[in-house]
Amino acid sequence: MSLFKKKKSDRILPQHVAIIMDGNGRWAKKRHLPRTAGHAAGSKTFKDIARYANKIGIKYMTVYAFSTENWKRPQAEVDNIMGILRQYLKDTDQFKHENIKLQFIGGRERLPEDIRELMAKAEEDSKDFTGMHLNIAVNYGGRDEIVTAVKKIIAAGTKPENVTDELISKNLYTAGQPDPDFIIRPSGEYRLSNYLIWQSAYAEFWFSDVLWPEFGPRHLEEALDSFSDRNRRFGGV
Ligand code: IPE
Ligand code: IPE
Ligand code: MG
Repeated sequence: MSLFKKKKSDRILPQHVAIIMDGNGRWAKKRHLPRTAGHAAGSKTFKDIARYANKIGIKYMTVYAFSTENWKRPQAEVDNIMGILRQYLKDTDQFKHENIKLQFIGGRERLPEDIRELMAKAEEDSKDFTGMHLNIAVNYGGRDEIVTAVKKIIAAGTKPENVTDELISKNLYTAGQPDPDFIIRPSGEYRLSNYLIWQSAYAEFWFSDVLWPEFGPRHLEEALDSFSDRNRRFGGV
């Protein structure tokens, strides 16, 4: 911790912020509302935080929207989350004003056809945008991502001596992007839940008890101040 609070202009921003948007269900439960109300509120928080992060100059952001394990949930909840995603994708015009470049990471085969088409369209429509690069992880799992990368590498006939860190990174969904250097998880859980397990090798972490629907710009600011105060050594001295 530094003795004096840094001026905003001196603050070191992470290059790539990754967020585990967790706690929607508990937020709803606290209010005696159905879990669906929690996901609706969480979706609004997501839009507000993405807009805010872009405004303050974050270059890359990745948000965890649906994991490879979330299919285990009751079908009605899965359908509800897919419905929210579909609505969001139909409404991505909002990002035109923000200049945000969208990318979806995760396996698409298992997603409904219309959602896959809307995803491809959103990526195509925003590909030349120069603002924040926003990855939305849907049917994403870190292990699944690594398995998929290994399959691609083997299918290309790669010789064992040519398998390197860089080659694996290049075959992940996040190819060409800087690794996330800051991972935020609200909701009081202290785990990665299969998120960006390769890319997070040297990431800094920030945990908070706040539930995702209550997460506001002030929480992001608090997290960013904490990041800026850290001494990253990468194994050196
Ligand atoms: C995160 O909130 C949203 C998804 C995983 C899709 P949860 O639905 O996991 O909320 P809690 O953890 O039950 O509170
Ligand atoms: C992680 O949250 C996945 C998303 C936020 C999309 P979960 O609620 O699924 O994680 P666990 O089950 O608490 O580990
Ligand atoms: Mg959860």
